[in-house]
Amino acid sequence: MSKETSTKWKALVDLPSNVWRSIFRNPLPSSDRGRAATSFTNFFLHIQPVRVSRQALRPSYTMGLGLISFFLFAILTVTGVLLMFYYVPSTGQAYDRMLDLRSSVAFGIILRNMHRWAAHAMVATVFLHMCRVFLTGSYKPPREFNWVLGVALFLLTLLSSFTGYLLPWDQLAFWAITVGTSIAGYAPFIGKELKFILLGDANVGQEALLRFYVLHVVVLPAVLTIFVAVHFWRIRKDGGLAKPEPEPAKLTPAVEVTVTEAVPALVPVAAAAAAAPARKFTIQGLVRGPLIKVGKLEEDTVFSWPNLLIAELVVLLVTIAGVMAVSLFFNAPLEQPVNVMHPPNPAKAPWYFLGLQEQVSYSAFWGGIGIPGIELLLLLLVPYIDRGKQGVGRWFARERILANSVFLLFVFVNIVLIAIGTFFRGANWQFVSPF
Ligand code: HEM
Repeated sequence: MSKETSTKWKALVDLPSNVWRSIFRNPLPSSDRGRAATSFTNFFLHIQPVRVSRQALRPSYTMGLGLISFFLFAILTVTGVLLMFYYVPSTGQAYDRMLDLRSSVAFGIILRNMHRWAAHAMVATVFLHMCRVFLTGSYKPPREFNWVLGVALFLLTLLSSFTGYLLPWDQLAFWAITVGTSIAGYAPFIGKELKFILLGDANVGQEALLRFYVLHVVVLPAVLTIFVAVHFWRIRKDGGLAKPEPEPAKLTPAVEVTVTEAVPALVPVAAAAAAAPARKFTIQGLVRGPLIKVGKLEEDTVFSWPNLLIAELVVLLVTIAGVMAVSLFFNAPLEQPVNVMHPPNPAKAPWYFLGLQEQVSYSAFWGGIGIPGIELLLLLLVPYIDRGKQGVGRWFARERILANSVFLLFVFVNIVLIAIGTFFRGANWQFVSPF
């Protein structure tokens, strides 16, 4: 065999391993350095820190709510794109397409169910995640702006779900959006214009369907994606999840090392190691500024690979399994096609706006705009008003009893209002007993 032929033959034999190695540059790591290198060189993993605190991994601390919200958003994106292959945003066709999804499109019904239930679940998990962040005092410096971003994410989640509600073009959708957009109409000075901008017309019709569709499939998901990316980036830059100040005994003394070389800076870390061989180093320090504080490192951390990765995969699987299980047993509602002459009595907004609708029944302006506006402003200002550093990173810390009590009262009142609107209101918004 000539030399040339043997080289070609070898290239053919090595093809699978060469392809594999071109994608996965490192073998499965068996050393700490390998674990760090895996985190650095993998596209998906480099977004995460090399080490993560044990507390951040504890299910009882975060309950995985931020991650679940993110995975629900991912499920919504995938199922939403698949639904777009069938859906037509036209008042003449939308409802029929829903019927087709039910009867003649392969897996159409499960696709629609997954999309609907994941959307409801995301509203709930984002809200619960906000509660967990508040009740652990995790909005305090330096995380104030991430809290503000979070409030924006909560509003974007509500709006995404609300705009999707109209698309099936059934009675439920039509009248829920009629009620929801009329609440927007109560805004002082700009109410009428705001309602017109949303609907593109005086009433809910073809223009509104098209506007809601574009908002739902392009504008809001794009803005949400950007905001989620910045949210995650801020978590990294803020030094991971908030945790209680470590006890001095758990810290090794600090030695400051100036990094002069660019990333990948395992080199200066190694140089620092030589200067203080008995100490631990954090590569995370490299992305936080020109100085690494060598040694000022809490002992209570583990490598992200594989600890964080496994936790994330478990949460992903549980989220997908949960949404699929619910979608197998419960069908997304589809009522009669739109009949503008026959409003249901009462016409109710989607459940997450029923607290608002209940408030509106007492006072259109204060219930629909005034009180929610003040609540929103206070939520945004929380981290700038509550500046004390006590009780960060712990559930229901004693030091935060006042802040937590006020927040829990706010949550309780809103849940009660939603429950009244959902279960205790009948024809003409009269009080009825559900029992
Ligand atoms: C689409 C919605 C959202 C997604 C996908 C999301 C995702 C996440 C994730 C994955 C984390 C880290 C792990 C965890 O805490 O579970 C996190 C942390 C955080 N989130 Fe969100 N989040 C969302 C909405 C919100 C909201 C509504 C708020 C508050 C108003 C918020 C404020 C924060 C803050 C301050 C942190 C850092 C917490 C800490 O340091 O312990 N996020 N978020």
